[in-house]
Amino acid sequence: MSDLIKVTIDGITVDVAPGTSILNAARQIGGEIVPPAMCYYSKLEGSGGKCRTCLVKVSKGSEKDPRPMPKLVASCRTGVMDGMEVQNITSPEVVEARKGVVEMLLINHPLDCPVCDQAGECHLQDLGYEHGLSSTRYEFERRTFDRIDIGDKIQLHMTRCILCYRCVFTADQITNQRVHGVLGRGDAAEISTYIEKAIDNDFSGNVIDVCPVGALTDKTFRFKNRVWFTKPVDAHRDCPTCSGKVTLWYKGEDVIRVTARKDQFGEVEEFICNTCRFDQKKTSDWVIEGPRAISNQSVISSNHYDTLKPLPVIKTNLQLQQSNKDQFERATKL
Ligand code: SF4
Ligand code: FES
Repeated sequence: MSDLIKVTIDGITVDVAPGTSILNAARQIGGEIVPPAMCYYSKLEGSGGKCRTCLVKVSKGSEKDPRPMPKLVASCRTGVMDGMEVQNITSPEVVEARKGVVEMLLINHPLDCPVCDQAGECHLQDLGYEHGLSSTRYEFERRTFDRIDIGDKIQLHMTRCILCYRCVFTADQITNQRVHGVLGRGDAAEISTYIEKAIDNDFSGNVIDVCPVGALTDKTFRFKNRVWFTKPVDAHRDCPTCSGKVTLWYKGEDVIRVTARKDQFGEVEEFICNTCRFDQKKTSDWVIEGPRAISNQSVISSNHYDTLKPLPVIKTNLQLQQSNKDQFERATKL
């Protein structure tokens, strides 16, 4: 244990292995102090360093050299040192800088959450809600693009892309051949395919799951329902290509979407193959495990709080039960 090093983030100390990034050290502590991450993805090698949402302040470099770092640093790309002290939500400077980053990310991003399939699962929507301004200061023309079909299952809305590179790393690292990437640079940069107009291999659908915004969406699910009206259920099948462990999203009796399971940081637990994702949409294709636990903070949880139990005083009072009938039904429905 002696080779672990100590780092303190927002006053909470944790022992981590040398080489751990500040972001991952914060994830070991968990909770509110974990910086948001729009481009880093722990399952994708080389990811991070693009979006700057994870900026933190290093107020003490290390035990040996306690000088603070002169600028805010990207926590996903900065390794911890023994005795390092970091501020995230306790630093007004960081909170202010994060506001600026969100403003930048939203410069070209359309505010089409009401018609976007990612609404309710979009990290930029959450960030905009927490740090965004109510109006824009941007006066120039925004970048616009036509919608692009990337094959028959994936739709690209380039206007929504924040160029986090996650989909590029995913295609690079878990599919046989990457046929899309970031073309152009600076304000001309865009996600696009090369010669073929299709991303077509067994694991290509995972680009949908890793996209933090609604730039890459599942054409078999688009506009079928708002995600917060669906019921997520964990299920598995014996799949020869992937682990077969997925989340099924139900509307009534029908499976309208299949995704990989996501952890508390919004990252997939295991990548799944296209057969599981696109071709197995019957309940009989799956062994059902049970309802997927969704954080109560997530908008997906609305109407699905399993913790919404009648208060003890209501339980014993018939009149109160009658007047709270609707809430009771909601609580017992699930
Ligand atoms: S399409 Fe999505 S995953 Fe790909 S770079 Fe853009 S925002 Fe990131
Ligand atoms: S998550 Fe660190 S820069 Fe994007």
